[in-house]
Amino acid sequence: MDIFAEDRIQDIVAEHGAPVLMLSREIIRQQYQSLQKALPNVDIYYAIKAQPELAVLETLKELGSYFDVCTNLEIDLAKSANIAADQCMHTHPVKKDTDIQHALKNGINLFVFDTISELEKFIPYKDQVELVLRLGFRSKDAIVDLSRKFGAQPETGIALIDKANDLGLKVRGLSFHVGSQNLSPYIYTDAIHFCRHVFDECSKKGIHLDILDIGGGFPIAYTERVLDIDEFCGPINEHLADLFADHRIICEPGRYIAGPAMQLVTSVMGKAHRQHRNWYYLDDGLYGSYSGKVFDHADYPLHVLNARNNEEIPSVVAGPTCDSFDVIYDNILLPDLEVGDLLVSSAMGAYTSSTATDFNFFPKTQIIVID
Ligand SMILES: Cc1ncc(COP(=O)(O)O)c(C=O)c1O
Repeated sequence: MDIFAEDRIQDIVAEHGAPVLMLSREIIRQQYQSLQKALPNVDIYYAIKAQPELAVLETLKELGSYFDVCTNLEIDLAKSANIAADQCMHTHPVKKDTDIQHALKNGINLFVFDTISELEKFIPYKDQVELVLRLGFRSKDAIVDLSRKFGAQPETGIALIDKANDLGLKVRGLSFHVGSQNLSPYIYTDAIHFCRHVFDECSKKGIHLDILDIGGGFPIAYTERVLDIDEFCGPINEHLADLFADHRIICEPGRYIAGPAMQLVTSVMGKAHRQHRNWYYLDDGLYGSYSGKVFDHADYPLHVLNARNNEEIPSVVAGPTCDSFDVIYDNILLPDLEVGDLLVSSAMGAYTSSTATDFNFFPKTQIIVID
């Protein structure tokens, strides 16, 4: 069955109106299971930030997923989905003391750090916390860089673990996030290699690390094809089997799990002819569900629902707010559209509604669970 079949979408809009984000639990399940198959010896910690909808958390909980939480409200959300504290890891490298306290109060005791200053914040809680040191590996193949702002220089890793040891803090292992929407697996394999070196050097000093967290970053198709997940994870698995066979391996996917599970339907609110092109004003835009075009550098496929004619001409598609910046597609081929026509964007599950604003008081688009 096509979960997002056109006549089904039509029915959903008839019932709920537009704009609407349609969320499929079945696709969440399929994505989780295909990643589990592609990384068979790796525990999946879903990165809640990508799509924090309760239905996503509940669906993943049923499948036995773990969760990556970064903030107090993400912790509260996990709690409201009855997710056990020992299924969660706190992955934000920079925290206030009150954030550490909130996590501990809720039973979460596995934390990430990447500087001495962050390490020192754990001194008052040294008997309760276990730590993972995040190293930064920058990837030229990632669409979103996540190592500019976080992650210790890899060469400083051993010294940081020594420091933790001197302070009486327990470091369980290493983590990295080589960037989101990675187009190649080889930065992961390079990082895994380097981590093995750190594990070995620590071992020589009597510090035995047992967790390796390979982060998120697994790619999905937007307007361009990407490697199939089995192909993508193949070299990663080989390196893990060779170098980390007896360790606990963790990953923190967000996009791969949630991205394909949601599609957006918008309607044409208005049209104009400007600068020799057709302009269409949609009821969702860059300040809303398409915010991922700005923050996440994603380019979502767009098609017309039940298009009446096939002749396509270069057009401009804009969002509803009063800002001229709110242009979603500057030059896209579309047939002639009328007010009320519906357009659909796919792969809208990750970093879309979670980064949307209600600027101009255009409310955030409703999310409807469709299965
Ligand atoms: C610490 C951390 N873990 C996991 C993720 C999820 O990454 P992705 O959606 O690329 O899988 C992110 C994304 O920002 C992150 O910052």
